[in-house]
Amino acid sequence: MGTVIVAASILAADFSRLGDEIHRVEAAGADWIHCDIMDGHFVDNISFGPEMVGRVRGLTSLPLDVHLMIEHADHYVPRFIKAGANSITVHVEPEAKHSVAKTLQQIRDAGCRAGLTLNPETSFDSVEPFLDKIDMLLVMTVHPGFGGQSFRADQMQKVKRARSLSSRIDIEVDGGINDETARISIETGANVLVAGTSIFHATDSSVCVTRTTSSMVVLPSATRRQPS
Ligand code: DX5
Ligand code: ZN
Repeated sequence: MGTVIVAASILAADFSRLGDEIHRVEAAGADWIHCDIMDGHFVDNISFGPEMVGRVRGLTSLPLDVHLMIEHADHYVPRFIKAGANSITVHVEPEAKHSVAKTLQQIRDAGCRAGLTLNPETSFDSVEPFLDKIDMLLVMTVHPGFGGQSFRADQMQKVKRARSLSSRIDIEVDGGINDETARISIETGANVLVAGTSIFHATDSSVCVTRTTSSMVVLPSATRRQPS
């Protein structure tokens, strides 16, 4: 596997100074900006919508990686594409209330990269039929809805299985990523790391993301949130 991509999740950023926050992680070496969209139905939390993604688009030229944790994604996809998304990832669970195949095609037809994701409780079997129809598989390493949760190592079996089936697609992990869990994920076959808390709650704002080799990413322990 080649270069590892770090996608900084702005869910953990200070929204009152979002421009500064984004420029800080850009300077620290983040590759993508990960936008977590929550509707209060598919997940038990509400974050932000297309208007905010459009504002983020105006703040950075980094690719915007939009993760839809919402019902009826097909209804909202055009708004996120218009807002400037470069990739859009949707959930496979029936509770997301959409036709997965149709939504993936809709995303691709609009010239956007299509991602598919599954909750920790969801079987890999549900995403396997779609592997040749996606650009990226997102393996949730926490139950979606909140930042700052602990990494679930049991999800690495999905990363391993996906990588054994496809060397083409990006495999992204999301939730509880820090220097240690980044290494585990990369060694298992992931090549895109979403990180919110470990990047934005850094105490040393000068060093957020350090890529040391093509096969390892280190988020220095100094960037972890200190106990208050
Ligand atoms: C969780 C979101 C994640 C979250 C990751 O529902 O999908 O992207 O922001 O946050 P950390 O890195 O804090 O686990
Ligand atoms: Zn996410």
